[in-house]
Amino acid sequence: MAAAPPLLEAKDVNVVYEPARGVRIWSVRDVSLSLAPGEFVGLVGESGCGKSTLGFALTRMLRAPARMPSGEIVFDGQDIASLDGEPLRRQRRGGFALVLQSGMNALNPVRTVGRHIGDILKAHATDGEKWSRSAIRERGAELLGKVRLEPDVLDRYPHELSGGMRQRVSIALALALEPRLVVFDEPTTALDVIVQQAVMKTIKDLQREEGFTAILISHDLGVVLEATDRVMVMYGGEIVEDQPSSALLTGPHHPYTEALLGCYADPRADEIELGGIPGTPPDLSLPAGGCPFTARCPEAIEICGTVDPELTPLGRGVAACHVRAGTGTAASVPGTAAAVPHQATADTTEENRHAR
Ligand SMILES: Nc1ncnc2c1ncn2[C@@H]1O[C@H](COP(=O)(O)OP(=O)(O)OP(=O)(O)O)[C@@H](O)[C@H]1O
Ligand code: SF4
Ligand SMILES: [Mg+2]
Repeated sequence: MAAAPPLLEAKDVNVVYEPARGVRIWSVRDVSLSLAPGEFVGLVGESGCGKSTLGFALTRMLRAPARMPSGEIVFDGQDIASLDGEPLRRQRRGGFALVLQSGMNALNPVRTVGRHIGDILKAHATDGEKWSRSAIRERGAELLGKVRLEPDVLDRYPHELSGGMRQRVSIALALALEPRLVVFDEPTTALDVIVQQAVMKTIKDLQREEGFTAILISHDLGVVLEATDRVMVMYGGEIVEDQPSSALLTGPHHPYTEALLGCYADPRADEIELGGIPGTPPDLSLPAGGCPFTARCPEAIEICGTVDPELTPLGRGVAACHVRAGTGTAASVPGTAAAVPHQATADTTEENRHAR
């Protein structure tokens, strides 16, 4: 049987922050990815590596000073990267939604939960569609039920709800337009660990029940591995590995993924030895000139500092590493074996790299 076409395909997406004053930051660098209908995919990486920016780009939520200078985003066969205004608003219905960590704090304190739901339904009503008060309450109660909240929450104000309840409300709001893709950006990070687990369970159950495609963005690899089918690992604005979750746990291919896994300890182990990743992430205001992990990688060879490795099939997924893919042996780089710092070569300017 032929595989279903992807729900979303992104190709060579670049995102840059260009503040009026201050430096330009290239946060997402030539990212390509594909999401199958109904897939639950994780996106992990250290703070500042570009996860949220990529999530915003995929759901068309980038705001100034962010800009997407190049790249394609095709959702359900339609190019959404170039949509704006009314056509983009129409695509949101049955399209794509974003749940933010801060979403629970963005609720309007003087509006009840029911009013929030009504506002979204009315704002995205199709031609001639009317939302009566009773229809809003009926749909609102249905949405709250999906996130395991009682219908009486419709009449409550945000300050009357716990953090976990507010985050459930923001998930219900994201589901109001029946999206086929939901990006959850650190949806439980602001909650205590018990509430975190309960909300994560609801997200997992919901994804299965509703069948939407989901991306779970988190810096917590443990949470992502437990919840998702597949994990994309991001580093320095790039996807450096993409594997089924089970394969990533037992057989990572990228040295950064290995280092990341080394940062997690089994709390039941007799002796807990926590690893760390020495060094700091690359400066995203600098143009890339090679593998972004070069300066911190114990396996780096000379080619790593000048040529950015492509994602190559390895095991059950793909990874971008010269050494692991066998494209960076000493034979291919005469006279080399030493680690070199991550830096741009003289002829690699920001514009020509991102204009590719
Ligand atoms: N509004 C902004 N203006 C300028 N630079 C920004 C802005 N927002 C993010 N950046 C920069 O873009 C890069 C990627 O940021 P992003 O928020 O996407 O990372 P992240 O992986 O989501 O991090 P975290 O795990 O901390 O949420 C960072 O270097 C950050 O400094
Ligand atoms: S390409 Fe080189 S620097 Fe990058 S992860 Fe592989 S060995 Fe390390
Ligand atoms: Mg983020």
